[in-house]
Amino acid sequence: MDVMILAAGLGTRMKSRRAKVLHELAGRPLIAHVLRATFKLAPEAVFTVVGHQADEVERVVRDYAAEFVEFDPKASPELQFVQQTEQKGTGHAVMAARDRIANRPGPLVIVAGDAPLIEGATLGHLVESHRAEKNDATMLTVVMDDPTGYGRIIRNKDNSLLRCVEQKDASPEELLVREVGVSIYCFEVAFLLAALDRLTTDNAQGEYYLTDVPRIMQQQGKKVGLLCHSSAEEVLGVNTRIELADLERKVRDKKLRELMLSGVTIIDPATTYIQPDVQIAQDAVVHPQVIIEGSSRIGTGTIVHSWTRLRNVVVGEGVVIRNSCVIEDSTIRDGATIGPFARLRAGAEIGEKAGIGNFVEVKKSKIGRGTKASHLTYLGDARLGERVNIGAGTVTCNYDGVRKNETVIEDDVKIGSDTMLVAPVKVGRGSVTGAGSVVTKDVPPDSLAVGVPAVIKKKLR
Ligand code: UD1
Ligand code: CA
Repeated sequence: MDVMILAAGLGTRMKSRRAKVLHELAGRPLIAHVLRATFKLAPEAVFTVVGHQADEVERVVRDYAAEFVEFDPKASPELQFVQQTEQKGTGHAVMAARDRIANRPGPLVIVAGDAPLIEGATLGHLVESHRAEKNDATMLTVVMDDPTGYGRIIRNKDNSLLRCVEQKDASPEELLVREVGVSIYCFEVAFLLAALDRLTTDNAQGEYYLTDVPRIMQQQGKKVGLLCHSSAEEVLGVNTRIELADLERKVRDKKLRELMLSGVTIIDPATTYIQPDVQIAQDAVVHPQVIIEGSSRIGTGTIVHSWTRLRNVVVGEGVVIRNSCVIEDSTIRDGATIGPFARLRAGAEIGEKAGIGNFVEVKKSKIGRGTKASHLTYLGDARLGERVNIGAGTVTCNYDGVRKNETVIEDDVKIGSDTMLVAPVKVGRGSVTGAGSVVTKDVPPDSLAVGVPAVIKKKLR
């Protein structure tokens, strides 16, 4: 079985220079959500019809496909991209792929790239129903409270399809119909192609409508089934930024409910933003106005206080992250305390029971067990041992204008306030530096280093 994702349109109603399928929901482009759902079908090939920002859409599909294959190893479809340079409608998009799909065996599932909540299981049901009823085409529909803007499904008395009619082409009676097509289909490819030959642009928008294909197939003696799905919000596409924000809220609510049911305290769900792939263990507490993103994982009993943002952070058990911390791509081990107002980035690794206090920035540095840097400090490209104490105002001067150099501070060192550690430099085990010292040479173990060696060496220019 193959999948085709229609993603060439600009999405005029988004009022954007960006193609609609590139707009993000829960931190991922819309099309990535759709792609992930289609992987549940374990398709042999995924054809993506691209047009607006084709290169960017292709890149997104390739990147996320590589990521999703790790989760769904059974699905590692061949990725094909079809250029639809002019967008003359959903039917025209499929026509653009004609040569590529002509000789493919098995059914073709077509989905619009702008329906991010679609679930793999729903696509699975569509294919099952298509096969069980031996249909030539099966079309997914849904009944909406307010169907305005969508293509209506007009049925015969015996419930079979009479025709699909777009909002702009519908009569007043047809507009009263609340069942709509959701741009998700399963087709026998040969019959799909035969019907595409008969498609015209004889409609209000002057486009080739894919929605006309099922009726043409019926005229050609083929069997068309309708499968009415129960959840409108799952299957419908995003057309405006208002709809996008509505979905964002729904995705967020769903995630927060799952977390709370699994034993996480969310003090104020209305102001808490946690992306779908984040994992949080039991008895963790998340205070109001916290944002947790990406592939972050939070351990049991950890507390995250307000105004903190975590992105791709692995946090152990019993950690306390105080107010207003900004932390990304870092690891924090059990029992550590962070913040308030701490900044950890790009490969900070904070050891067990370590303490990183206010206005401390840590980058690409390993902080040993029980080590503390409590105030106003920059630690970059540094390796700190255990039980080290870093005085206020300490800076690892890691950048010499050309390259980043490493600072090593061994176990049980006490760095005095306002020490400048001019890297590459090493402070040996048990040593102490005096307040305000500028350390330019390695300090042997168990030594005291003091003073400022700033001597003028040469004129710069
Ligand atoms: C379409 C359906 C409508 C249905 C609705 C459900 C048609 C004619 N109408 O309308 O019946 O109720 O979806 O969401 O099919 N695309 C292309 N190339 C094109 C045009 C569109 O690739 O030339 C892609 C778009 O990028 C988008 C998808 O097809 O991902 C749907 O297009 P869109 O313009 O949003 O269709 P609707 O007007 O919503
Ligand atoms: Ca749409």
